[in-house]
Amino acid sequence: MTNIWEPIRIGRMNLPHRFAMAPLTRSRAQADGTPGELAAEYYGQRASLGLLISEGTQPSADGQGYPNTPGIYTDDHVRGWQRVTSAVHARGGHLFIQLMHAGRMGHPDNTAHGRAPVAPSAIAPGEKMFTLGGLKDAPVPRPLATEEVPATIADYRHAAARSIEAGADGVEIHGANGYLIQQFFSPNANTRTDSYGGSIENRARFGLEVVAAVVDEVGADRTGIRLSPGSRLGGIAEGEGHEAFYLHLVKELARFDLAYLHVAHGGNEELLRRIRELWPKALLVNRVNRPLEAATADVEAGLADVAPVGRWALSNPDFIERFRRGAALNPPDPQTFYGSGAAGYTDYPHLEASAASA
Ligand SMILES: Cc1cc2nc3c(=O)[nH]c(=O)nc-3n(C[C@H](O)[C@H](O)[C@H](O)COP(=O)(O)O)c2cc1C
Repeated sequence: MTNIWEPIRIGRMNLPHRFAMAPLTRSRAQADGTPGELAAEYYGQRASLGLLISEGTQPSADGQGYPNTPGIYTDDHVRGWQRVTSAVHARGGHLFIQLMHAGRMGHPDNTAHGRAPVAPSAIAPGEKMFTLGGLKDAPVPRPLATEEVPATIADYRHAAARSIEAGADGVEIHGANGYLIQQFFSPNANTRTDSYGGSIENRARFGLEVVAAVVDEVGADRTGIRLSPGSRLGGIAEGEGHEAFYLHLVKELARFDLAYLHVAHGGNEELLRRIRELWPKALLVNRVNRPLEAATADVEAGLADVAPVGRWALSNPDFIERFRRGAALNPPDPQTFYGSGAAGYTDYPHLEASAASA
């Protein structure tokens, strides 16, 4: 049985235990997408989580979905992320930047350019979008022309290169939770008739081409990918065919020798077991809404190599120490998940501070 405190080597990193920080959008970047002033402090505080996967970060202006999310494609973005990676490394942690193109999960009000979001097909997600002007319907997106697809893939490649330039240990390609790559996967968001739509092979193609480009640019051992098979976030409905789709996708991904596969797991246990069998490298399983008592169960059962935590890491900079000691956790405050400043970001107390004020 694998113990949660056993070290593990993933890609080029020696990690001290089997927890990690799951990606968490915090919407506190500057208007131009440069990480905000407190970002280095926020991530640095959480370095003991070992591998920190950053909040979703747009690889291009068109990739932005929500207000004040960071980017990683300009010189200012690189300088901002350099401060973050330095703070994390100084405290012994590692940072993968999550490359997130939101696709149709966007709104013209949320970007400086004000263009319609782009997506595989002109199908609105049927979801409300958070905007600075309140909740609004996500609009019908503009479908990417076949000729535009290579440029979109090149944006991921460029962002991966800039992430490494910023000192990141690698990048996680966001193929989960209803954003651009999963929009290509899902038949209810992708009705294309070119080589990127229709068959399983065609719907997987865009994601696999992104992976190939990023691997070519920064190396497989600095590339991970996140998937959420069967997730219904962002209006996605992958349908009954989704098991066959993901078995194909994971088999194809296995050829790349990536650092890791990260599954945001919503509940299809049989599919997760099949993925585990098919996947030759490190498997990260973030089980949505799992109780604290079950935090180590997947690693101990051999179903996962690493168990990333989301909200517990958000509200407990010293989650590792607290868990090790069996100490109580700060509860996360959803009111401050997105936007605003230090409140609910860098001011969650450490154990000593909580003990002193108790
Ligand atoms: C505030 C918030 C922001 C999130 N942002 C992202 C994100 O940028 N990228 C992503 O892949 N998942 C994101 N997620 C999903 C988390 O990574 C994670 O899968 C989810 O919170 C379930 O894990 P947990 O129960 O440990 O929190 C977000 C979740 C929350 C609560």
